[in-house]
Amino acid sequence: MSDFKRTLVTCALPYANGPVHIGHLAGAYVPADIYVRYLRMKGEDVLFICGSDEHGVPITIKAREQGCSPQDIVDKYHRVMKDAFSSLGINFDIYSRTSSAVHCEHASAFFRKLYDEGKFITRESEQYYDPEAKTFLADRYIVGTCPKCGNPDAYGDQCEKCGSTLSPEELIDPRSKLSGAQPIKKKTSHWYLPLQDYEKWLSEWILDGHKEWRTNVYGQCKSWIDGGLQPRAVSRDLDWGVPVPVEGAEGKVLYVWFDAPIGYISNTKELLPQSWEKWWKSEDTKLVHFIGKDNIVFHCIVFPSMLKAHGGYILPENVPANEFLNLEGDKISTSRGWAVWAHEYVKDFPGKEDVLRYVLTANAPETKDNDFSWKDFQTRNNSELVAIFGNFVNRAVVLTHKYFGGAVPERGELQDVDREVLDEIPALKASLARNIETYKFREALRDAMGIARAGNKYISDTEPWKVAKTDMARCATILNVSLQICADLAIAFEPFTPFAAERLRRMLGVSLCAGFDHRAGEAVTENTYRPGEGAALHTTPAADGTACGSAAGVVLTWEMLGSDSLLPVGHRIGEAELLFAKVEDDAIDAQLARLAAIRAEREAKAAAEAAKAVAPQKEECTFEDFEKMDIRTATVLAAERVPKTDKLLKLTIDTGIDKREIVSGIAEFYAPEDMVGKQICILANLKPRVIRGIESHGMILMAKQGDGTMRFITPQEALSNGAQIG
Ligand code: MF3
Ligand code: ZN
Repeated sequence: MSDFKRTLVTCALPYANGPVHIGHLAGAYVPADIYVRYLRMKGEDVLFICGSDEHGVPITIKAREQGCSPQDIVDKYHRVMKDAFSSLGINFDIYSRTSSAVHCEHASAFFRKLYDEGKFITRESEQYYDPEAKTFLADRYIVGTCPKCGNPDAYGDQCEKCGSTLSPEELIDPRSKLSGAQPIKKKTSHWYLPLQDYEKWLSEWILDGHKEWRTNVYGQCKSWIDGGLQPRAVSRDLDWGVPVPVEGAEGKVLYVWFDAPIGYISNTKELLPQSWEKWWKSEDTKLVHFIGKDNIVFHCIVFPSMLKAHGGYILPENVPANEFLNLEGDKISTSRGWAVWAHEYVKDFPGKEDVLRYVLTANAPETKDNDFSWKDFQTRNNSELVAIFGNFVNRAVVLTHKYFGGAVPERGELQDVDREVLDEIPALKASLARNIETYKFREALRDAMGIARAGNKYISDTEPWKVAKTDMARCATILNVSLQICADLAIAFEPFTPFAAERLRRMLGVSLCAGFDHRAGEAVTENTYRPGEGAALHTTPAADGTACGSAAGVVLTWEMLGSDSLLPVGHRIGEAELLFAKVEDDAIDAQLARLAAIRAEREAKAAAEAAKAVAPQKEECTFEDFEKMDIRTATVLAAERVPKTDKLLKLTIDTGIDKREIVSGIAEFYAPEDMVGKQICILANLKPRVIRGIESHGMILMAKQGDGTMRFITPQEALSNGAQIG
């Protein structure tokens, strides 16, 4: 960190085709916000960039589904996402959009420079074309059967069932999503970035130079590079996106994965039209991309190659990509509605923004996929945030008011128990810092929570409420120590649970110096924003609004964390407030009920689909083969279960020829009383067989459906028994 003068943090620009869910939050946005808040608190010069990714095929698909224009879609979701981030305290310096004029211009110029310098190759290829809709089909617009798992609805770029990356050519029986027509191949020409030319350079830069990257990230890069890189198309036949700025390129736009990452740059430029270049072109800037694992190749291979081709730009110093978060054991899926949406969460759990941040960090999918469950959410809130952190702070603050009129009491001589707890904190602080700086946020949160645990144990062990009856001086010491730990918590939790940290600071009557906080939502202009030069802001404004280090009020800083006197004797603390509230069962039950309904609907749909599945036709047979079979109508006279079996019924039937017994494996589908009196069809001349000691003379004809369920065949109208079928 010390080699750099400033840190530029980006978060994957989310597609504006749906709201943000907990998978996104856990994957990139919460960890990035923790990282940025931590750096700001240390007074580092940091810029936090994000925005909506408003191009690409998924948006045009969504628009088609909803019968509106792509513009309507992106306008809607841009708002929803922007608001959701800010309500969760994820405070970007700018949250712009790739439809902005600055972006279109910058992306266009970027392409044009590469084009002019001959950095692209052109290739003619055969692309799928919908002859009915008269348009080229993006990979996402082609569906067909997955060659790997047989999913009949795999997309041309990916199978959502087995997760394989596909190309449309690999699909079996491809069809157009637009018209259902079978796509045909048609010639088209596109620009490609010859990634193979960057292979050696990438290998040196990443495989030799960034062995410290997370194993999952490094591993993916290695397998891409070792597998040999191919030219990547940077344009598409589509009518939604940044037009290719080349003559004769009508109907072509920049491929979304070409323009979107440039959005990081253009959003910086939009925020800081005068000084953006030092963030992107100075080796003093440390660039860190926060993303989910599905974005690794684009951020580690493709975008860096683009930047290298362009020249003049810095490269990411790290790309801490997370694995995926599942929900209640199932893959999160926007299309199936299997998700917890950020904007709904903040409505359902007002005042509990921090709880989601906390749970997503405690369970962060940093090294492997992880699961979010509502029960775990409740437990972590009630038995960690409420019972440990909240409980400790509440006891310290309430007792200080009760015995010392709300003023930090005098500290007498320290006993071992006091020294021990105070000594724990610097070690936890060091570990927390190391963990955040190496992108281990769940470990870092554990360290912060370690301080709360230590404090809670300390106050429980020392029992100041009992000591107060006999030794007020000792009680004062205990509360003084406890309040120092509360102040430590007000610093340590700022990155993780910023709302609670701020409530805590209000309770303690202090503010926090948190570096260059440009406040999301506030228009930041060149005039108000001076990274590296201006006075730091307080996240909790000091009483008189003055800057850090001024005499007024107690202003906490990161450096003070773990020093043993943050709050001077006599400092007046505020009233006790609820730091965290319990999550009650009914709130959890409501969430689980919503998910159960989605699951039930999906299962019903899957069952209906399965029932429709048709078994392939059997091998040919001759008329003579068929003629051998004596198929007739019959009526069930009596039916009973065959003892000690689940599947068998013994039926007595009138075949017109005789009365006989048949044992049939239909008990799974019919009760004996369902059968009595029913007319059925039988194979009469099947060689008798003894089943469970009963001789069975023939077989009932049953229809077996795709899901395995069976129904007997009954004539449409009552027929005479023994009528021959053929
Ligand atoms: N929109 C992409 C996604 O949601 C991420 C784009 S990141 C950027 O997966 F770098 F391209 F901006
Ligand atoms: Zn598949």
